[in-house]
Parts: sequence; C-alpha cells; structure tokens
Amino acid sequence: MSHADHVEGTRRDFIYYATGATGAVAGGAAIWPLVDQMNPSADVQALSSIEVDISGVEPGTQLTVKWLGKPVFIRRRTEEEIFAARQVAMDELIDPLARNGNRNEDDVALDENRTIDVAGEWLVMIGVCTHLGCVPLGDGAGEFNGWFCPCHGSHYDTSGRIRKGPAPENLIVPVVEFVDESTIRLG
Ligand code: FES
Repeated sequence: MSHADHVEGTRRDFIYYATGATGAVAGGAAIWPLVDQMNPSADVQALSSIEVDISGVEPGTQLTVKWLGKPVFIRRRTEEEIFAARQVAMDELIDPLARNGNRNEDDVALDENRTIDVAGEWLVMIGVCTHLGCVPLGDGAGEFNGWFCPCHGSHYDTSGRIRKGPAPENLIVPVVEFVDESTIRLG
C-alpha cells in the first residue's frame, strides 16, 4: 500500500465513523419518545423497579429521584401539611379520584388514600403536571402550599391534589412500598 492509499483509507474511515455517529445521535433522539412509551428496551425494563434510601429525608423536605425517565417526588410531610390535607372536604376537589397505583381505580381522593403510611407522613408522586407534563415546583409552592406548576398556573395541595388551574387530575401516586423503615421501592 502506497502512502497515498494509506492516507486515503484513513480519511475515508474517519468520514464513515463521523457520519455514522452523527446519524446515531440524531436517530436516537428522534425515536426515543416512541421507544420509551411503546416498547421499553431491556435496560429500561431492568430499571422498572428501584429502591430509594429515604433515611436522610427530614420532615418538611422532599427528595426527588429519577425513575423511568420521570422525576418522582418523595415528600416527608410535616404535621401541618398532613392536617391541611386531611381537613379538605371532598366537594372542594377538582379530581375526586385518589390516582394511586397501589389502590383501586375508583378509590376517592381522601388524603388517607394517597400516602404510603397510615399516619400520612410519606407522600410519593410522579412529579409531572397532569396538564401538559411540566415538572411542578415543590416545598409548599402555590396557593395551597403544596406544589405549583408555573407553565400554566396549576396549584396542587399538600396531598398533591389539583385545586386550581388547568390540570385535570391529581398528581399520580406510583406503585410504591416500604422495604424497611428507611427504604422504599418504586415499581
Ligand atoms: S403543564 Fe402544568 S399547568 Fe400546564
């Protein structure tokens, strides 16, 4: 092989790989939403259940983890937040359903039907606004001191229930359970 051939070959290889890599990135970005929703790949399925250490979560704070590509809010509620959530009358709610993957589909949106412990200290929800999918702000945000989605102004209460704004449904409670007193399992 002459020097010229060698250079040409190297250059062609470089162009091939560079083009291939660019194509893979563009294609991956374009098809990801479809794959994510319709046909989870093996590695996504492998992560369909995760365990989360909640031992460092203080009352009145929220831990946000990413699960199946979405944020999940794990809030350890204060006595005041629990009290506020539990004194709301059902007829004040926009969405009457609990939206809790651990309960029956027609269970009502009592605060007691949304928390993972009977005392109501732990509230776990998918952190995606039920209007158009923005991530709501937490830490007592909004007019009902729970979560607030600034995209179009949806206010959620301390139980994550929609109380004002365009969102049609309460924040979703995913399948979740305690593994032990300091660990929960999502999925
Ligand atoms: S996406 Fe949250 S209010 Fe529209």
